[in-house]
Amino acid sequence: MSTINKNFPYGRLIFFVTENAHKFNEARSVLAEYNVAVAMIKMRTLEVQDDDIENIARIRVLQAVREVNLPVIVEDAGLFIDALGGFPGPYSSYVYRKIGLGGILKLLNGVNDRSAKFKSVVAFCDPNNNLKCFHGIVEGRISLEARGSGGFGFDPIFEPNESPGKTFGEMTTEEKCRFSHRARALREFAKWYRSWQA
Ligand code: IMP
Repeated sequence: MSTINKNFPYGRLIFFVTENAHKFNEARSVLAEYNVAVAMIKMRTLEVQDDDIENIARIRVLQAVREVNLPVIVEDAGLFIDALGGFPGPYSSYVYRKIGLGGILKLLNGVNDRSAKFKSVVAFCDPNNNLKCFHGIVEGRISLEARGSGGFGFDPIFEPNESPGKTFGEMTTEEKCRFSHRARALREFAKWYRSWQA
């Protein structure tokens, strides 16, 4: 990977290509800790199917950088439930759309092991094709019922181990970002981005 152009015109600014305003708000909250400003580019990228969310993120970030010709990040995430062999994992958005929270709770009806994790990959790429991926994980469990109206997706049924008894859906963005998979991946990205530009 080449070093960054010292005349890089964007300073500590990054463009987040996503259609999800919740993800963008989480990124803004986390990246502010590192004085990295983030702008949202609302654009759909083709989501290929692959067992590995890093592969999905890599393909999406290459597509995004080709379209906008700016330094960008994309993020791909999934919910991995131990008792279901890691399902829905990379198929999380499809499963969420098709069976929702109720469907997941039904699949776990009577199951004692409710452990699960969220995984996130933040993929960065600039117009010179410098591509790098950052990972974040949060371990927790699937609650017995949906609780809270905050956040998005599976937030109302996921209790992180750091906050037993409280789902992501019951937290503010700032609280969720203390432990979330996405916040962890974004922090790794921010540390690297700052040093890369130093
Ligand atoms: P995506 O493909 O990265 O947008 O994520 C796939 C799906 O996983 C989303 O549609 C959500 O249902 C779920 N998901 C990903 N991250 C989160 C999160 O932070 N909270 C709740 N659900 C999430």
